[in-house]
Amino acid sequence: MPKLDFPDDFVWGTATAAYQVEGAGHEGGRSECIWDTFSRVPGAVYGGENGDIACDQYHHYREDIALMAELGFKSYRFSIAWPRVIPSGTGKVNPEGIAYYRTLCEELHRNGIKACATIYHWDLPQILQDRGGWADRSVVEAFTEYAGVCFAELGDCVDRWITINEPFCIAYLGYYYGVHAPGIRNIDQALRAVHHVNLAHGSAVRAYRKTGLKAPIGITWNPSTPRPATRNEADKKAALTARALETEVFIYPVLGKGYPEIVTGDLGLSFPVQSGDLEIIAQPIDFIGVNYYNESPVAFDGKAPLTYSSKPSWQDTSEMGWPTVPQGLKRQLVWIQEVSGGIPMYITENGYAGDDKVDAEGRVHDRERIRYLRKHLELCGDLIKEGINLKGYYAWSFADNFEWAYGYTKRFGIVYVDYATQKRYPKDSAYFFRDVIAGYGEW
Ligand code: FCB
Repeated sequence: MPKLDFPDDFVWGTATAAYQVEGAGHEGGRSECIWDTFSRVPGAVYGGENGDIACDQYHHYREDIALMAELGFKSYRFSIAWPRVIPSGTGKVNPEGIAYYRTLCEELHRNGIKACATIYHWDLPQILQDRGGWADRSVVEAFTEYAGVCFAELGDCVDRWITINEPFCIAYLGYYYGVHAPGIRNIDQALRAVHHVNLAHGSAVRAYRKTGLKAPIGITWNPSTPRPATRNEADKKAALTARALETEVFIYPVLGKGYPEIVTGDLGLSFPVQSGDLEIIAQPIDFIGVNYYNESPVAFDGKAPLTYSSKPSWQDTSEMGWPTVPQGLKRQLVWIQEVSGGIPMYITENGYAGDDKVDAEGRVHDRERIRYLRKHLELCGDLIKEGINLKGYYAWSFADNFEWAYGYTKRFGIVYVDYATQKRYPKDSAYFFRDVIAGYGEW
């Protein structure tokens, strides 16, 4: 039996996010988002680069979709830019913004590709950051309003909805480690952001159910379920603390389990929960999106503010310095299936940053990426056979793009982008993925 053998109804696609691929930063009525501001902070983004042009998908979407169709991809996960749809954060809707996403969905459908829309992938309108961003409770109402506009205006052409991408990165990278926009380093604000992101998600799902729309709706997490660095009790406890702080604070409330004891009891941290919030967060969802790239062992660290730190591991690393650990994905899916009682799961991102070069024939021989994808896909195939309720897989990313604080230095695409000409070159991994989807990936 070939390893890369998947059920016929398995969903195959590629993923991107608006700020990373769209460009047209100052066109179509789009306002500024927190990444426009952050990329102007000296030293915040590699080389001071930004998403003004990116891979200019705003103007190249037709050819990108044609390429997806040619390669046999079945679904496209893109994100809707809040600053394009409601430039002032709340209030007036920008018809040009809506028109862009409607045309994108129509073009996908014309090519037999399903539209999977993420409502928020990190491009908060700057005007809302000026009011405190995710650390301020008013963002919940603003997000619910924005999500409501997406449902009303695009509900007839979106096939799958993801409310929010990677709450961990929004709250912790943005408000605690300060390496993502808005670049704040404050644990109280980070915990406030955790709660407001959770609440915004629940509130949007509640609004969605009232619309009567039928497309599935869920959320995408980047869970971390790390292994302890040693068998010591302290390290085992550290791994559980890491899982609680980085993952359970998001997953548990959505599953109706409230905030984890390790965080609220042992660590004595608190969230700004008001009466009724936990019920709003715990709206039933139709699926869970999982983004997975890597995993590092975790050890107790008395000096670290949160009592644990990651240890280097011996595995091969990508250009990001991320170790390749497919077993980490298995740990996650098994654990999520257990805590969620079997809610369908989709891998909404998985991929590899490589040192890619186009050769004289216009080919990119990205063997390392193929090896990475193959290992993770084989594991997915096995897990499905073992009863894990995994329903789809989106490769990150369709094309090279703006990799946040790393600017354009990291290439995650299965399609290469020459940023000077905007020419696209499918890498060998794109053909590998095409063949896996078609069902003859082993040969
Ligand atoms: C994830 C993000 C995505 C991309 C990949 C490499 O954390 O969701 O936008 O940058 O990492």
